[in-house]
Amino acid sequence: MALRTLESLGSLAGKPVVVRCDLNVPLKDGVITDDGRIRASLTTLHALLEQGARVTVISHLGRPDGKPEAKYSLRPVADRLGELLGRPVRFDGRAPADTSPELGEGEVLLLENLRFDPRETSKDAAQREEYARELARFGEAFVSDGFGVVHRKQASVYELANALPSAAGRLVAAELEVLDRLTENPEKPYAVVLGGSKVSDKLGVIDHLLPRVDSLLIGGGMLFTFLAAQGHPVGKSLLEQDQLDTVRGYLGRAEELGVQLVLPTDVVVAEKFAADAANEVAPVDGIESTRFGADGIGLDIGPDTAARFAEIVAGSRTVFWNGPMGVFEFPEFAAGTRAVADALTKVGGLSVVGGGDSAAAVRALGFSDDRFGHISTGGGASLEFLEGKSLPGLEVLGWQP
Ligand code: 3PG
Repeated sequence: MALRTLESLGSLAGKPVVVRCDLNVPLKDGVITDDGRIRASLTTLHALLEQGARVTVISHLGRPDGKPEAKYSLRPVADRLGELLGRPVRFDGRAPADTSPELGEGEVLLLENLRFDPRETSKDAAQREEYARELARFGEAFVSDGFGVVHRKQASVYELANALPSAAGRLVAAELEVLDRLTENPEKPYAVVLGGSKVSDKLGVIDHLLPRVDSLLIGGGMLFTFLAAQGHPVGKSLLEQDQLDTVRGYLGRAEELGVQLVLPTDVVVAEKFAADAANEVAPVDGIESTRFGADGIGLDIGPDTAARFAEIVAGSRTVFWNGPMGVFEFPEFAAGTRAVADALTKVGGLSVVGGGDSAAAVRALGFSDDRFGHISTGGGASLEFLEGKSLPGLEVLGWQP
């Protein structure tokens, strides 16, 4: 069965509609540092408001412990959403059960962080169903548009979709269309670039994509587990000892499949994990031969590697990228991530930046969204989708992998 889209709900003019968005944006001292997820939710909200629906938006923010915590309040998000929508967004910060569902003319309501109630993420389905019934009071229909949470079996994602007539919003539909193109007949050559700190977070996606790609490029903290698996000493760099055998398995499987598994040839080695750490470039077999000896810590791919990765990426017709190449938050160690981001903007076919963190990285480095084919709003969700898993928040909307 195919995903139920907005159209399946019929006319929503004058009807109250609850919309689950993923407004889980990064905040620093109460200030939103990347509003990409709020912007991404606007298409659906505009579509609903234009047809005269009365909209209540719901979302989580961060991972509070099932009780209110000021630093996880959605209040700053309500302000930003109001600015972007160009209309008043009511936010009273109370629990859903204590909030009036009545809306003033032209007004949108945003409820406080759903995870302030432990029933949202409860393992007990009856608890989640009870919370979903409280949320269902705000609408006669439910639109699920928080792509970043469709891999979670949570009250506002799963049970609420069963409690009301429900459909996927425009963002969820658009994300699926693009991610589908990464697994079903992708245009070749197809390259996947993986970074970030842990191999263990990427096992499923490597397993599923290895037979489908032409090149798999490995950067970020996880590269050191690959180097260690090849017998290179890696100093104090990130290393997952328990993944060494798995990684050796990937190296062998890539060879059997004729997939180019591209590992760095050089890395930037630093004296310590700090923005101003002394550093030097070293070949991958010389990480412990820098002036920092066995205390050296790899914080970025080196310039030769960055150039090679950029060449492969820019020459591919389909590229998926998840995870920074180095500690891009420190300008001194951002060159690898910048080079890959820049190469992605030159891809002739489809380029996809996957994940909240990777999206925040490209924006923090000054790249605008329109330079990429698609920036996914889902980190864990896009990876689980690419692992070929069935996602509860999509299944409940009629979608089958
Ligand atoms: C995300 O940031 O990936 C989504 O908002 C999901 O958040 P979660 O991992 O806390 O469920």
